[in-house]
Amino acid sequence: MNFTISVEGRTINFPCERGETVLNAAQRAGYELPYSCRKGVCGTCKCKLVSGEMRAYSGDTLTESEKSAGQILLCQARPRSDLLIAPREIKKIDPFARRTLTARVFRIMRVADDVTIVHLRFPAGIRIHFKAGQNLEVILPDGERRNFSMANPPHESDGVQLHIRHVSGGAFTGYVYNKVARGDLMHVELPFGDFALRESDKPALFVAGSTGFAPIKSIIEDAQRKGSRRKMTLYWGARAKRGLYSELPRKWQADNPHFSYIPVLSDTPEASVRSGLVHAAVLADHRSLDGFQAYVCGPPVMTSAAKRDFLAAGLPEQDFFVDAFTTRADEPPAAAH
Ligand code: FES
Repeated sequence: MNFTISVEGRTINFPCERGETVLNAAQRAGYELPYSCRKGVCGTCKCKLVSGEMRAYSGDTLTESEKSAGQILLCQARPRSDLLIAPREIKKIDPFARRTLTARVFRIMRVADDVTIVHLRFPAGIRIHFKAGQNLEVILPDGERRNFSMANPPHESDGVQLHIRHVSGGAFTGYVYNKVARGDLMHVELPFGDFALRESDKPALFVAGSTGFAPIKSIIEDAQRKGSRRKMTLYWGARAKRGLYSELPRKWQADNPHFSYIPVLSDTPEASVRSGLVHAAVLADHRSLDGFQAYVCGPPVMTSAAKRDFLAAGLPEQDFFVDAFTTRADEPPAAAH
């Protein structure tokens, strides 16, 4: 049996199968809603449920007051009846933009102890369209999928660059770490996600944890290619200096008077580098974040702390953009059925 999901104030409705999430149903019907992790961790897909019943949600990403105010997570919401929802944004997906392709590994670089950069090339003549900051899904042989941000800017459209951090026990990242070879094939679907630079005159603060640098690299390179004069600052954090695996930010800073780079190390202090948590370095530099936009990418523990503390420092919630990458260990318990 299908339920119908309607969008308040819009002539949009789409079917949702029993057991399916509203986010998946929307995407199947050709609509894009805000989301990032798809695992109930980051809160990006938070949305007001105006009416209808859904299965109980047992995670703690939503506060008790948000739950009582009718907020739901669209990536976890499985309806028990027709629903009326009020998302902050919904748009039609360009049916020609999303592609499923077989790409070939053509360059592999081990850039840190636990980070490998993999360049994939699409079949001859195929170019893809995406927004700087978006991600793709690698489709594994068993049908499971893994999300990775595309680190290349959109004009480099004949392939993609992925920054893959080795996760202990992770089957795919273990393959990349130990076995991947030039010429291997990978099945990918792309593009996904809405982590992208919003039009604004406000200074942009980019906060990256580890390989959270990847989508931010794409955004900054795209903005610089377009001649942006917007003030941008990148705070890039890692445990140790070798985790800051690219010299590009220093080059951007040298070439562009509107761009600044602040590396931050959390575990291994170095004389010339700031130490502490990367989001705390932003707060140390800015007493108030009112008047800024923040783009934050990293593990959920880092993005959650950044959101809490940036909003407390005056950043309007609509100016906080997040791309939280999760591993299985980050996932909350399954929703109660
Ligand atoms: S996309 Fe739903 S909580 Fe992250």
